[in-house]
Amino acid sequence: MSSTYEASLGYAQARDQVDTLFPFRERFLFPQHEEQDVRYFCGNSLGLQPKSVGYLMEKELEDWGKYGVEGHFKATLPWFSYHHFFCERLGKIVGAEQDEVVAMNTLTVNLHLLMISFYRPLGGRYKILMEAGAFPSDQYAVETQVRMHGYDPDDAIIEIIPREGAHLIKDTDIINAIKEAGDSLALVIIGGVNYYTGQFFDLENITKAAHSAGAYAGFDLAHAVGNVSLQLHNWNVDFACWCSYKYLNSGPGGVGGAFVHERHGNDPTIFRLGGWWGNDEKSRFKMQKGFVPQKGAASWQMSNAPVFNMVAHNAALDIFDKAGLPALREKSIQLTGYMEFLLKQITHLPFEIITPSEPERRGCQLSLLFIERGREVFEALTQNGIVADWREPNVIRIAPVPLYNTFEDCYRFYEVLAQIA
Ligand SMILES: Cc1ncc(COP(=O)(O)O)c(C=O)c1O
Repeated sequence: MSSTYEASLGYAQARDQVDTLFPFRERFLFPQHEEQDVRYFCGNSLGLQPKSVGYLMEKELEDWGKYGVEGHFKATLPWFSYHHFFCERLGKIVGAEQDEVVAMNTLTVNLHLLMISFYRPLGGRYKILMEAGAFPSDQYAVETQVRMHGYDPDDAIIEIIPREGAHLIKDTDIINAIKEAGDSLALVIIGGVNYYTGQFFDLENITKAAHSAGAYAGFDLAHAVGNVSLQLHNWNVDFACWCSYKYLNSGPGGVGGAFVHERHGNDPTIFRLGGWWGNDEKSRFKMQKGFVPQKGAASWQMSNAPVFNMVAHNAALDIFDKAGLPALREKSIQLTGYMEFLLKQITHLPFEIITPSEPERRGCQLSLLFIERGREVFEALTQNGIVADWREPNVIRIAPVPLYNTFEDCYRFYEVLAQIA
């Protein structure tokens, strides 16, 4: 397909005309630049607001006003069961059974809660293996968990780095390092899609390798969820967590999500910190001593659902469900492929695309590493109504998101770059 791409506005518009997902763009609010919609390439950081959020938020406020405490059972979506309404849609997005997923808390909090369960160092098995350059919050979480158990992070954390001269980490290097760590390894934690490079790791084989070494495998899916195809259940992943404010468009600080494989979720002997919302629903209100975890990922919940936070998640997941991940992914491969093709026509600016070129090793994001002039280019984009993002020290990240970006958006981005002297 890429050989048929053309660097022309007419071509881009013709692709948009035959794109069956094009109408979904209408469901989102776009920030304005000189009274026009910006070209928004920042869905990898914060997704756009679905127009339906405002209405649904008002409905929820109305229910609160109308029912008071009785809204727990009488609201349109009763608050008592609110977290249940997300499981089916989230399960489809991450490739999981409904009771393997739960919408709760926020990403880093969930990572800590899951590490409480799955990082249980014992004797010589205490090490955690992760990719170098993981998102700082993950690094801090791993560092402090290791310290909490009395270990020295310099000894207990194994970081896998790219080979000399490379920007990306080879999956085989991760797998070989897991083998080498062997029975010293307690846990492998990887960012499913790296936030900086956009590399999508081979989660299935990393999980297999971790299990062969006798360790658990858990993933931070912030940049993977809603962006790439995931099969967490079939890949036998032990646990995962994600945020919903990027590709899932559920708003700043939006509720996070967690996956726990059913072999652990349904095993009451796996330790989890308790709270009433994780307790068996039948005895939740009996106000008795003794935490009895309910089945599934939901047993990692502590508090009752933050309903107003979750209204946007509900609105956004509905749109996602209507579009369908397979169709979105198909478009995404085309759209990012087009952006990559256009970028390759730009020869006068000093950058290289460090994201893998194979579609199966990336999501929609492309990371442009500038040898120089990076900030200047970024500012030129901003002045021309293009929203991208800058990541220190020298990367511009762009994410053509299949739900609301168009081939024309990509062309306009290219046009601005082409015009920079
Ligand atoms: C890869 C990754 N992990 C963790 C986080 C932190 O998320 P939160 O603030 O929701 O805990 C982010 C935030 O952007 C992220 O991109």
